[in-house]
Amino acid sequence: MNQNQLKELVAREALKHVVEDKVVGVGSGSTVNCFIDALATIKGRIEGAVAASEASAERLKKHGIRVFDLNSVDELPVYIDGADEITEHLHMIKGGGGALTREKIIAAVARKFVCICDASKLVPVLGEFPLPVEVIPMARGHVGRELARMGGYPELRQNFKTDNGNLILDCHGLTLLDPAKTEAELNNIAGVVTNGIFARRPADLLLLGKADGSVAVMTEK
Ligand code: A5P
Repeated sequence: MNQNQLKELVAREALKHVVEDKVVGVGSGSTVNCFIDALATIKGRIEGAVAASEASAERLKKHGIRVFDLNSVDELPVYIDGADEITEHLHMIKGGGGALTREKIIAAVARKFVCICDASKLVPVLGEFPLPVEVIPMARGHVGRELARMGGYPELRQNFKTDNGNLILDCHGLTLLDPAKTEAELNNIAGVVTNGIFARRPADLLLLGKADGSVAVMTEK
């Protein structure tokens, strides 16, 4: 199976985790786009969705799925999202699409986080994928210098603004052996909105599409 087929496979598999008559949390990215298309086939069985990006919200609406503001939702049994990298501890790097802040907020609210990925995303240690850091525009220089002081090589994502009106610094070269610690340290830099390490709130379940067409269901090791 090719990468696209694997994304579709895990997206269909994720439907089993959607709770009937409830609002489902929906992340962003190409794997989640497959999930949204799959979700459309059972749209009569859910109340609606909350979306981690404007793009996901648009896609959901096009399918006739009601999109709720997170503030109007009391209960979110499950959140489905992809990742740029994930370890067997279900720690992730996210934000390749720039939606990391809203993704982290919805993940924090959800009772269960189901991550859907093709096998290429599973890594022994996080950090080869440049770490996205969302930054308030006036703090770009300061945050860049702090990241360099920590041993990173930040690069401003060109011609890009997040849905929140901020910038992204993609940081290469950080050692992420203790991702929960680094996640907290980075969030303590003045001007950082959030960073793409998802270790303090990892996924609860990983659905990993493998080249032979099977889906490995993994919980934290
Ligand atoms: C979006 O900001 C990201 O966190 C995505 O979840 C991540 O980039 C995975 O995207 P793909 O499914 O397109 O690989």
